[in-house]
Amino acid sequence: MAERRAKVGILISGRGSNMASLIEAARRPDCPYEVVLVVSNVPDAAGLAFAAANNIPTFAMSHIGLKRAEFDALVDGALRDAGVEYVALAGYMRLLSPGFVEKWAGRMVNIHPSLLPAYKGLDTHQRAIDAGEAKHGCSVHIVTAELDDGPILAQAEVPILEGDDADALAGRVLIEEHKLYPAALAQLVRGK
Ligand code: GAR
Repeated sequence: MAERRAKVGILISGRGSNMASLIEAARRPDCPYEVVLVVSNVPDAAGLAFAAANNIPTFAMSHIGLKRAEFDALVDGALRDAGVEYVALAGYMRLLSPGFVEKWAGRMVNIHPSLLPAYKGLDTHQRAIDAGEAKHGCSVHIVTAELDDGPILAQAEVPILEGDDADALAGRVLIEEHKLYPAALAQLVRGK
């Protein structure tokens, strides 16, 4: 009999290419998770169309006008209604309330485009180039109350090349993100 697959909810705010990589990976029969819900705080986020085209239910609602904890409680309700067991942040550009983080402690992951703990926050590619770094990359980590903090599950390195600009570097890092995130999530779900 097929292994029971853990139910994953993905939170996005935009393009959703990492979300798409998680959905694609979940098509494989040996993937230990399935994506049961995509949530966006930006109602016209491009990634929502991909999710819908792949028959994944979506919950899209603007956070504007709501207190952070109120909005997060609505998201939490949607995740629980869908039976979600693990939450994956994929370009979710919104700080989470401590209560929400607490509810999903150990079961919520994020992907960030830097070799954490270096370059938390925004504009990571340009900052790494400006600092003269030889390498950059991406990290998947467990989400804690601190922004882009929490135990690191996996990282992938990318060299910074002569003449790199932020866009070129971001493109090469993104290729690694798309491989790293499904693998790290699968590992977490398998309890490894
Ligand atoms: C990705 O590069 C992701 O690592 C980054 O936003 C991009 C979203 O792209 N996330 C963060 O900076 C979180 N701190 P996507 O919507 O195509 O996945």
